[in-house]
Amino acid sequence: MAHPTFRRTFLEIVVSSLLVTASLGGRPLLAQPSSLREAAADHFLIGLGVSDSISEMEECHGLLQQQFQIVTPENCMKPAGLRPTADRWDFDLPDRFVEFAVANQLQVVGHCLIWAKDDRTPPWFYQDGDGLASRELILQRVRDHVTTIVSRYRGRITQWDVVNEALDDGPNQLRDSGWSRATDYEFIAEAFRAAHEEDPQALLIYNDYNNEAPAKRERMIALLKKLLADQVPIHAVGLQGHYEIDAIPYENIDATIQAIRDLGLRVVVSELDIDMIPRGRWWADGGKYREEMAMLDPYANGCPEDLLRRQAEQYAKLFAIYKKHAEAIERVSFWNLHDGQSWLNYFPWNRVNYPLLFDRQLQPKPAYHAVLQVLSGRSKPSDIP
Ligand code: GLA
Repeated sequence: MAHPTFRRTFLEIVVSSLLVTASLGGRPLLAQPSSLREAAADHFLIGLGVSDSISEMEECHGLLQQQFQIVTPENCMKPAGLRPTADRWDFDLPDRFVEFAVANQLQVVGHCLIWAKDDRTPPWFYQDGDGLASRELILQRVRDHVTTIVSRYRGRITQWDVVNEALDDGPNQLRDSGWSRATDYEFIAEAFRAAHEEDPQALLIYNDYNNEAPAKRERMIALLKKLLADQVPIHAVGLQGHYEIDAIPYENIDATIQAIRDLGLRVVVSELDIDMIPRGRWWADGGKYREEMAMLDPYANGCPEDLLRRQAEQYAKLFAIYKKHAEAIERVSFWNLHDGQSWLNYFPWNRVNYPLLFDRQLQPKPAYHAVLQVLSGRSKPSDIP
């Protein structure tokens, strides 16, 4: 069942059922949906992560409003942006972001209250004078941070990434960080409790990457079970979905969504993109390929048609999985609006990349049409690669 705040509005249901515009000889005639949000109206919200300064990017506003329903600010609500020191809150950008979204009838995902990584957490969070803060002080800071932000945006931010990336990539359950060293898993529980107390209507999400990989999934499911057993108010799990072309783990994604559903939790796909110049090798074998990879920019003058076609097929296959699980999926968000805005043009090295559904001229790519087809039911499962 949909989280109460996020049930589709009556209007959206009417509009989507109007897509079946007429009946000819008993055969329904489907009108072509003109946007992702329209095509997905019976399934889930369609969103995206966008620049903190989106309000000033007028050239993007038309496409944004036409295609999407919910936006996530790319950086300005992260602890490093919002709270660089204990007594400094930088609400200017987040306030402008939320005002812009509300004025444009877009929902907002708050991202992220706690980012459980030392290099993403301003050091003051862990300190007390010259020493380390105690467990109690850290938990008090979690509560204070979460409470201040969630109460400020109550009713305007409808979904929160409460904790980002707390799971270990190695054998431990939790990533080693100032948070986990001081409190074990309590910082996670405390963050969710504080957020729920401030806004009981908001959808509260645990968000991570590679969490469909079997070993990490297992650690995540164990963590979720513990949170649920402790009656922590967690509602959904975010699969970031930063994939690489020709290496999308479809079966693992399907199995992970099912495993989350089995716990009675909802799913969001929070940061979807498909890297066309795969980056995985950057971290292999102690980083020894980095020099060579840093020279790699194969599509600087354009992306080959064949690659765009493969990307379209792969996006279609992903959306077929999402559609199959639509009852449990709250939202699918891409990470950035068009290829020119993607972080994958810079991370982990500079290259001209093409990870999204819209190109640098804001025109729909083959992947856009493929996703639209799957969402609007025009592809039979057997057409999907
Ligand atoms: C992670 C974070 C996002 C963003 C992306 C890359 O997935 O959750 O906020 O930083 O990395 O841009």
